[in-house]
Order: sequence, then structure tokens, then C-alpha cells
Amino acid sequence: MSGHSIAHEQLEKRLASFQQKHIPNTRALFFSTGYLSNLTAITGLARLAPQGNTSIYSARLNHASLIDGVRLASIQTNALIILFYHTAPESLHDSLKKDIRPHRIIVTDGVFSMDGGLAPIEKLLAIAEQYDALLLIVDAHGFGVLGDQGHGILEQKNIHSERIIYIGTLGKAAGISGAFICAQDSFIEWLIQKGRPYIYSTATPAAIAHALLKSLKIIESDEGKRRRNHLHRLIDIWQQEMMFSTWEKVSSCTAIQPLILSSNANALLAAKLLDEAGY
Ligand SMILES: Cc1ncc(COP(=O)(O)O)c(C=O)c1O
Repeated sequence: MSGHSIAHEQLEKRLASFQQKHIPNTRALFFSTGYLSNLTAITGLARLAPQGNTSIYSARLNHASLIDGVRLASIQTNALIILFYHTAPESLHDSLKKDIRPHRIIVTDGVFSMDGGLAPIEKLLAIAEQYDALLLIVDAHGFGVLGDQGHGILEQKNIHSERIIYIGTLGKAAGISGAFICAQDSFIEWLIQKGRPYIYSTATPAAIAHALLKSLKIIESDEGKRRRNHLHRLIDIWQQEMMFSTWEKVSSCTAIQPLILSSNANALLAAKLLDEAGY
């Protein structure tokens, strides 16, 4: 309703330039939230094929927005859903070998918000190539943080492919709100014409797009690099020096650092201690 302003257009161009080296002929589409971009991308991908022709391979620890997107796509297109563990991508071979549905989509978080693990995207891409599948990567916790320039997991892993559909969210490292899909120009055009969650919700105000342009400048600047280095130092300190006698610290190299508290009482106690310490 409030339209597509010059600021929206500039933001999409800048976001596309971040992934240009990794997805040929890429174009970006800006969304008001990651939940909406994820719903739009997954249902949009599934609807590329006729009813009943799609299989969606979804990582078990994917974020709720991906799970909901996969479920909605299945309802809309009669797509088959197959779950896999991101720590065992080889298990996909068995299912894909037997799959008689011609349209296959692999859906994964880049950094898993549930355990802090990085998706094995090199392996997933090799599998996608072998079985002619598309690979959707939602890099909510990687964009702005991973890679020398903060462009995300594709930069960090030096990955290039026209099979990849990349989503970044803008409410985490970018510090504001929103999300974007980067993919081949033809798929973005399909979403603009057919993506129901995109079409039937109000556009983000231009002021947010202006603010996000500033965020992208910071991410790419020396200041952005300094902040990323600082974050990585904090991750190392947490991993190497923090000791807990009863709570379980999980090994993770990302900004998601799980601490397993094991009970509701422990969770309430931790909340109280953090509150008292000013967090
Ligand atoms: C992994 C992941 N994906 C998607 C989202 C959804 O993004 P948004 O809050 O912009 O809807 C979130 C968090 O909120 C998230 O942690």
C-alpha cells in the first residue's frame, strides 16, 4: 500500500551487490520480516512446479518460520516433506535416489538458532547438484557476521551457484528489522507477481529502508570489521574460558552459544541472576 520508493530500490540493489559474487544474475527483494520472506520463498519455490511434483527436504532444527513455510507449501502444492539432520547430510542421498518427484528443494538455516551449528552448505550444494535440487539457505544469524566483509555464509564458505536462494534477515546484525531474498532475477520476478505473503502485506516504510542503507555501510566499513573481530574474540573467550559446574555449555563457533539449563527452575534462576547483573 505504501509502495516501493527510491530508498527501497537502493536497498535492494545494495543487498544484491553483497551476494553478486555467489549467485549469478542475482536480484534482491526486501521484506518487512524474516518470517514473511521465508513463507514467501518456500511457497514460491514449491509453486514453480505442478501440484504433487515437489519434494521439500527440510533440516530438523530449522527455525519455526521455515517449518511453517514448508507446511504451508505442502498444503498449497501437495509437496512431500522429508526431514533430515544437518549434522548428517549424507542421509539425503538415500531419499533423493528414490525420489520420483522431479522438483526438489532443500531448505536449511545457515546458522542454526537451536544449536549454533553451521549448515554444511558445501555438502548440501554438492547433493543439490547431483540430484538437480534447489538449495534455500536462510542466513538470519550469518548475515552481517560471517565472512570477511560480513556478507554472510556464502562469502565465508566461498560458494557460487545459480541453484542457491539466499535469505538474510535485517533485525539481527543489521540492527533494525526486515529481511531480503536474493536469487536469480527470474525467480524474484515470479515472487513479485505471485508471492502471496509479499503481495498481500503493507510495504515497510521508506524510513526503515534508509536506516538499513546506513546499516549496510557500517557492515562493510572498517568499523563493521572491528565489531566482527570483537564478536569473534568474545566467542573464543566464552568457548575457552567460561566454566560451568552444572550447566552444559555446547561447542559452537558462531554467535549462537547455547547453555543447557535442563529445568524450568534453572531457567528462572538464570533469568534472575542476569536481571540482577543488569542484563
Ligand atoms: C533463524 C531465524 N530465522 C528467521 C527469523 C525470523 O526473522 P524475523 O524476526 O525478521 O521475522 C528468526 C528470528 O527472529 C531467526 O532466528
